[in-house]
Amino acid sequence: MYVRFSLNADLLTSGDIPGEAAAAIEQAVQEANETSFRRGVPKEAQPDDIGRITGWSVEGNALRLSIASGPYTRAHDALFRFRKSIASVLGRHRIGVRGIEVTGFTIRLEGSVEPAAIPRLPMIQETAFDENGVLLSLTLNAADLENKVPDRLVRLIEEKAEAMAYGGKAEHWELIYESPRQPPRFDRDPTEEMVKKGWIKHGAARGQWIYGPQAVQLFRAFETIVLEEIIRPLGFSEMVFPKLVPWEVWKRSGHAKGVYPEIYYVCTPKTRDPAYWEDVADYFKVTGEVPVEMIRDRIDGPIGGMCYAQCPPFWPFVQGETLATDCLPIHVFDRSGTSHRYESGGIHGIERVDEFHRIEVLWLGTAEQTVDTADRLHAAYTRVFDDLLELEWRCARVTPWFMAQEGLVGVSENEQIGTRDYEAVLPYSGGWLEFQNVSVNGNKYPKGFNVKIQSGADCWSGCSGIGLERWTAAFLAQKGFDMADWPDRVAELVGEPKEIFRFL
Ligand code: SER
Ligand code: ZN
Repeated sequence: MYVRFSLNADLLTSGDIPGEAAAAIEQAVQEANETSFRRGVPKEAQPDDIGRITGWSVEGNALRLSIASGPYTRAHDALFRFRKSIASVLGRHRIGVRGIEVTGFTIRLEGSVEPAAIPRLPMIQETAFDENGVLLSLTLNAADLENKVPDRLVRLIEEKAEAMAYGGKAEHWELIYESPRQPPRFDRDPTEEMVKKGWIKHGAARGQWIYGPQAVQLFRAFETIVLEEIIRPLGFSEMVFPKLVPWEVWKRSGHAKGVYPEIYYVCTPKTRDPAYWEDVADYFKVTGEVPVEMIRDRIDGPIGGMCYAQCPPFWPFVQGETLATDCLPIHVFDRSGTSHRYESGGIHGIERVDEFHRIEVLWLGTAEQTVDTADRLHAAYTRVFDDLLELEWRCARVTPWFMAQEGLVGVSENEQIGTRDYEAVLPYSGGWLEFQNVSVNGNKYPKGFNVKIQSGADCWSGCSGIGLERWTAAFLAQKGFDMADWPDRVAELVGEPKEIFRFL
């Protein structure tokens, strides 16, 4: 898609612009068109690609400008650049620039653009298609231009067009490792078996389980393996990340771009004055029903949501900081709580739920350090799955989770950046279950949270989510419930299932 911008704007001045200023203004316009607007533009750019003032006139206390551009020194950037230089010219006549009034702004996209890729936004006033592309007429003000709204709009349309072009094709998935085959010991759905055995029961909320002691013995056995075989040898330190995530974090992590259909939203009371809530409590006391509509009127927010991806709420810990070279790479992990996703109809077994438990491993440093940690993690996981759990599994390069969660498709252009999914075969269905991932996230998070490193090199980070429910589902689906069939180490760590409840 080729893009053109065109705008009309008035620079409003503190007093009428005198006729004798005309020559100096014309000179400033030429200087801008020939020099200042060309700064930073690649040599191969054509004159039409670059911002230029195509016309100007004076009307009382307004300097009316028409500016056009292709992709370089975009019309709105040119406008602000010109404001600076004209301010000193007008200053000589004791006139100051007071403000900018945008009287017209259009974006022309050339190439084939699907109408469905153009979002309905209040700023788009008119959309006109023709055989060569589309012309968008926008209503916006100078603050919107300073906030780069036109650029964001173009990027959004490009992303939507990419997603649509990708639409029909399967998600990105590229096999990079396949384990040896393992003889299946079980051919049923392990969740159903756990329910039958009384190891787990549905929680009162949707997509939520209450795990009995027997199931938790498995969780803790896997956690021990992760700690002893992966986290300790690789030198990760435990932290506790918050589990309520405010918009402030999701704006920086990119989740604010796409995660809305899956959030568990969090609200706060408008006041904690008991008198304000008395009728709500009384309503319940009288009717036995909680008056949800009454509550809705008395709460603020949502202020954000419950933990979704686990690592984003770590980042305020390092936000705005420069990390000393001698503390890098930083290796930490969190296992302090649940993650929540509104899975709607997708709920299945213990492996696809609205509330789940995960150990999140996170690291940051230089690009080399970050990639190295990911590779060492991958080697450690491979040993654990092949030798300790004896799983039949495979590993694939997929759309990075941080892109997928923003609603993007494809893979990163940089080969080193991306997500590897670990999948285990489920003998009862023949399907594959993604039970954890390892990602090199590039500079995405350090950039979003403004984290630098002492050497001035780009700061990179990575993370790996280890799903306890999913390890359990994969392991039981393949190995079944007869501990004689289990690898020794797992059997030993789990021990005899504790049957502490007896229901009459
Ligand atoms: N943060 C990553 C994810 O959400 C790894 O847990 O998938
Ligand atoms: Zn993560």
